Amino acid sequence: MTIATATVTETLTNIQIVPVVVLDDPSGANALADALVEGGIPCAEITLRTPAGLEALKALRGRTDLLLGAGTVLNAADVDLAVDAGAQFIVSPGFGADVVTRCRERGVTAIPGISTASELQVAVAAGLRHVKFFPAEQAGGLPMLTALSGPFPDVRFMPSGGLRPDNVNTYLDHPAVFAAGGSWMVPRATIIAGHFSEVARLCADTRAQLDGHKRKAQGAI
Ligand code: 3PG
Repeated sequence: MTIATATVTETLTNIQIVPVVVLDDPSGANALADALVEGGIPCAEITLRTPAGLEALKALRGRTDLLLGAGTVLNAADVDLAVDAGAQFIVSPGFGADVVTRCRERGVTAIPGISTASELQVAVAAGLRHVKFFPAEQAGGLPMLTALSGPFPDVRFMPSGGLRPDNVNTYLDHPAVFAAGGSWMVPRATIIAGHFSEVARLCADTRAQLDGHKRKAQGAI
């Protein structure tokens, strides 16, 4: 897949799913990326929840076979660190005006988290049309997302938090959802153990499930 020709949100829309990665050892970054690509999910939100996150971004910078994002970006300084390390998009758990402003200054896509109408209103006022709905399941799930999208019909959501193979398609079927985030295909313990073939298998299973669902939905039209 050529990542550079489409916008970040177009690419994420095509891939549909964003693995939310917590890395403890940056030396596994390329093996992890290989597993994601092999499993048909060529993107990652590498969180800055561990110091290894930034090192992993640096190790993956310049790879043209996957779209590289940074997650848990909490302030403008983090934006600079993440972008300097190679992040092509920036995800935050909540809305931070300083984060969004610095992303604009640095020319990278910001996908801040929202979970209330007030936060969404602030995000829309800041000119955003793509947000993360976080933590999706805990904040009310699909009914909440549906309710939030009512007054904001132009907004597209990336739900994340509590998504699993058995509920991800119900989110992706929603017309206001452009992609979904989750960690089930990149379990932290599996990565620590260096079982990257298992990560590739989990990604491939997820890919097959999403593609199968899409084919079924298209066939049913
Ligand atoms: C995130 O930051 O999006 C979440 O940590 C992912 O949530 P999950 O671990 O429940 O998939």
